[in-house]
Amino acid sequence: MELTNVPHVASRFFFFSSCACRGRRTGKTVIAAAAAGSTCSTDSEPIEQKNVDFLSGPRSPLCYRRRDFASVALLPFLLPRVDLASAAESIDGSVIQNGVRNVLSKGKAAGMVRLVFHDAGTFDIADKSGGMNGSIIYEVDRPENTGLNKSIKVLGKAKEVIDRVQPVSWADLIAVAGAEAVALCGGPEIPVRLGRLDSSTVDPAGKLPEETLDAAALKTLFSKKGFSTQEMVVLSGAHTIGGKGFGNPYIFDNTYFKVLLEKPQASSAGMPAMVGLRTDWALAEDDECLRWINLYAGDQAKFFDDFKDAYIKLVNTGASWRSA
Ligand code: HEM
Repeated sequence: MELTNVPHVASRFFFFSSCACRGRRTGKTVIAAAAAGSTCSTDSEPIEQKNVDFLSGPRSPLCYRRRDFASVALLPFLLPRVDLASAAESIDGSVIQNGVRNVLSKGKAAGMVRLVFHDAGTFDIADKSGGMNGSIIYEVDRPENTGLNKSIKVLGKAKEVIDRVQPVSWADLIAVAGAEAVALCGGPEIPVRLGRLDSSTVDPAGKLPEETLDAAALKTLFSKKGFSTQEMVVLSGAHTIGGKGFGNPYIFDNTYFKVLLEKPQASSAGMPAMVGLRTDWALAEDDECLRWINLYAGDQAKFFDDFKDAYIKLVNTGASWRSA
């Protein structure tokens, strides 16, 4: 169900009823809120929610900042609400959204969007392994995930608070955080369907792109995840925020594509190493990718529209869902 009478908040989320659901690999019934720190060892067993700091061990509920907890807990009562009967059985997206907003800042936005790609980007269409399942929290030691522990730790704080009101899966939390990060930096508003289940195991390694790949290899890699060249190019536009040197690191706009067209890597002014990755430059050297780069460089609205669609596809990729 999509709420329509809560402006800004409700129109951005889909809601699903029931707290009982299917285990993602076994098909047995489990509690939906699989989480790090759970005592569950297999995803066929019921999962008990605990108030733990997954990075630094058990934590007392007294540690919660009262202001954060109060703002998340009270929000559902302050905002216009859907009818109570359906809300009682649903995920209230505003609780997750507000919890994320309490910990998010422009400085943390790029890390959140990268976190989304590194959770969902493990998907392999051949065997349906990987995908948007929260397993990134077990994979932070992998070289390609260097630095993402900071983003996970930030979201862990939000999760502790949100879980006190309504259990949230890591997969849902990360999907919402990425969308919030994009919007916070001035990018498109992205509706996020809710109800993803978490995996309790790591995804296969070696599925994310290495920065040495050329355009042909990138296309092959993304196609194995079900993504077209256009979707790969538009998603790569996320590099416009963060530390890769495309414009303002806190503003989500189409500067990435404009800068790629300027070919900074070919400059003799000492700029090349400072701007972008080899994979970014590789896109600009491929005719098919270049057509999309030209389009998005000249039409930011089109970039925003297409990024929104590709982001929705990314955060739904390989996800298992709570039963309605
Ligand atoms: C096309 C293949 C891609 C490669 C090879 C790649 C690789 C990388 C690398 C090496 C970094 C630098 C990490 C660091 O500073 O330590 C980075 C940053 C980033 N990536 Fe990607 N990436 C790719 C696609 C994507 C996609 C599809 C997204 C999102 C939809 C994404 C989002 C980001 C963001 C937002 C950052 C900046 C993070 C920050 O500054 O904190 N990347 N990427």
